[in-house]
Amino acid sequence: MREADEQTITEAVVESVRGAPDPRVRQVSEALVRHLHAFVREIEPSEAEWEWAIGFLTDTGHMCSQTRQEFILLSDTLGVSMLVDAINHRFPEGATETTVFGPFYVPPPAFAAGDDISAGRSGRPMYIGGSVADAKGQPIAGATVDIWHSDDEGFYDLQKLDHEPGLSGRGRFETDAAGRFHLWTIRPTAYPIPSDGPVGRMLAAQGRHPFRPEHVHFMITAPGQAKLVTHIFADGDTYLDSDVVFGVKTSLIRTYEQHAGGAAPDGRAMTGEWFSLVHDFRLAPSREGR
Ligand code: BEZ
Ligand code: FE
Repeated sequence: MREADEQTITEAVVESVRGAPDPRVRQVSEALVRHLHAFVREIEPSEAEWEWAIGFLTDTGHMCSQTRQEFILLSDTLGVSMLVDAINHRFPEGATETTVFGPFYVPPPAFAAGDDISAGRSGRPMYIGGSVADAKGQPIAGATVDIWHSDDEGFYDLQKLDHEPGLSGRGRFETDAAGRFHLWTIRPTAYPIPSDGPVGRMLAAQGRHPFRPEHVHFMITAPGQAKLVTHIFADGDTYLDSDVVFGVKTSLIRTYEQHAGGAAPDGRAMTGEWFSLVHDFRLAPSREGR
């Protein structure tokens, strides 16, 4: 096609991808061109603004490394990660809701029931316990429960590896015959997502803060069940209504109970302040089982 102009350019590009042998590639390419052109028509960028936009994406790519994924942060802060999550987890009523995966997961070391995953990091002791059941409420024995959370300064172990080597605040547990698990750790805190790159500059320009409310991450898997990726948020947190990645769901908020001494649920005698977080998870059947 020659002579493409402001009116005809979109159809010309859409036409050029219609021969894609893979129908999904064709569908995605057509939609991408139509929506991208509509966006440009709406905002009518100056050439300097378009150059700036290309520079922003270039900087985002340059910020990515083995330990930093700026494109995931961009997707998270624009709400795209939660939209993809919602589309892919239309679970039946009663199943525990999902939320954003985040960039700080690595396969955690395995622990025995009741172990402490804090690896000696200082902080306020917290007991985490709960159960895993299927959609009908039948306990699931042998489910794998991966847990990860920030420390009490708001950093994940992966963000401190250069001066504090070794993993902490993450562990893998297996549910017992009654579908139960429990462990010890330290209480995390609300934290800002990494904001020293292009995404941080975008948030500042948009007049937004970079904080996530206090939470603990869970990933639970069991045969025949859909993988559950979720968090449990701390009730009362300042940022529950303004999570920078839009991950909060009311059903995922629990009180992180405060205690002063006494006996913990596993019988441990406590002195001083400690916390407990208990939640019962319900898995949806896997797609094949639905
Ligand atoms: C997290 O909760 O670990 C997280 C999620 C999205 C972006 C940054 C961090
Ligand atoms: Fe997190």
